[in-house]
Amino acid sequence: MKIVLAYSGGLDTSVILKWLTEKYHAEVIAYCADVGQAEELSGLEEKARATGASRCVISDLREEFVRDYVFPMIRAGAVYEDQYLLGTSIARPLIAKRQVEIAREVGADAVAHGATGKGNDQVRFELAFAALAPDLQVIAPWREWEFTGRADLIRYAEEHGIPVPVTLAKPYSMDRNLFHISYESGVLEDPWQPPPAGLFRLTSDPEEAPDEAEIVDLDFEAGNCVAINGQSLSPAAVLSALNEIGGRHGIGRVDIVENRFVGMKSRGVYECPGGTILRFGHRQIETLTLDREVLHLRDSLLPRYGELVYYGFWFSPEREFLQAAVEQSQKFVTGTVRLKLFKGTLQTLGRRSPHSLYHPKLATMEADQGAYDPRDATGFIRLQALRLRTLARQQQRR
Ligand code: ARG
Ligand code: SIN
Repeated sequence: MKIVLAYSGGLDTSVILKWLTEKYHAEVIAYCADVGQAEELSGLEEKARATGASRCVISDLREEFVRDYVFPMIRAGAVYEDQYLLGTSIARPLIAKRQVEIAREVGADAVAHGATGKGNDQVRFELAFAALAPDLQVIAPWREWEFTGRADLIRYAEEHGIPVPVTLAKPYSMDRNLFHISYESGVLEDPWQPPPAGLFRLTSDPEEAPDEAEIVDLDFEAGNCVAINGQSLSPAAVLSALNEIGGRHGIGRVDIVENRFVGMKSRGVYECPGGTILRFGHRQIETLTLDREVLHLRDSLLPRYGELVYYGFWFSPEREFLQAAVEQSQKFVTGTVRLKLFKGTLQTLGRRSPHSLYHPKLATMEADQGAYDPRDATGFIRLQALRLRTLARQQQRR
């Protein structure tokens, strides 16, 4: 049997690797997706081999991640439960997709992942596997083995000569990629307790951010940010640059209690500096360029889109259906927005677009320009009011 395992080199996936070779007598191919988690990848291959992998494949997915997953999601304006920008959710389908490709390349029978049996990630991985490779067997060791916690894993690792990371285990769980970092569980489980000092890695504390505001120009083309301060950048470079700028000014921290797909509530702390700026800036260009009804209709679908991504239905007909509508709306979302960043806040200083639907002459209080005749409003309001007037008269009679 051949298994492709999504592997990071940490304690959990190292134990899984060894356990798969023992339990399934399988050949295990270790696969590591680089989605910008900024972990040391050199030496990973040797480590995987030393733990029992027949080989180790490292895939640099950073550009694809931002171009084909983060950007489409930003074009949709997605958010989950009004606050979470979906940083972990959006990476899972891509990690799974590449894993399936590798499984095909090496002729594997199964794919395995290290997500626990209580969270969202297991669902996201496995829904993606199902949509892309319904024939592949899926192995989720956390739902199969007898180990119940980290102490069991450490004991197993020691017994099997797997090097246990010397760095002290963090008192919480983290997931990092180019879009965000999430922090959950451990000391964060009490929703009354603020995040411990020193938790955040991407953003400075707004109170300690520079006293001088920073002004940033973002150019959008068809809903995508393509340049910062006039300099053209690739999608991944846009996000990296905005992470740095936003991080400096303490932009994009979120601390919430969210509803997991599998049923329970969970406390999550996130930092998403670049993504927060992108989503905000994108919205400003839409205010100029989107038709009112398209904007309102799209906004009404936004919670559904966010839910689909959170639940793990990226590769689904309903997500593709919504995405097609989003793309239709984005053709003219082109223009420049000027933002001011200051101690955790974002402010719009200006926006402009060659496709702007904003015409000061229509809105102005000044003399009539012909396209809008205030006298038309008399009939407009009278008809809009007809129902209300009828109702009110009826109530007066009662
Ligand atoms: N609660 C977030 C989500 O469901 C973050 C999950 C973090 N995952 C992890 N393996 N640490 O998207
Ligand atoms: C996990 O359970 O592996 C992480 C948390 C989650 O997926 O929600």
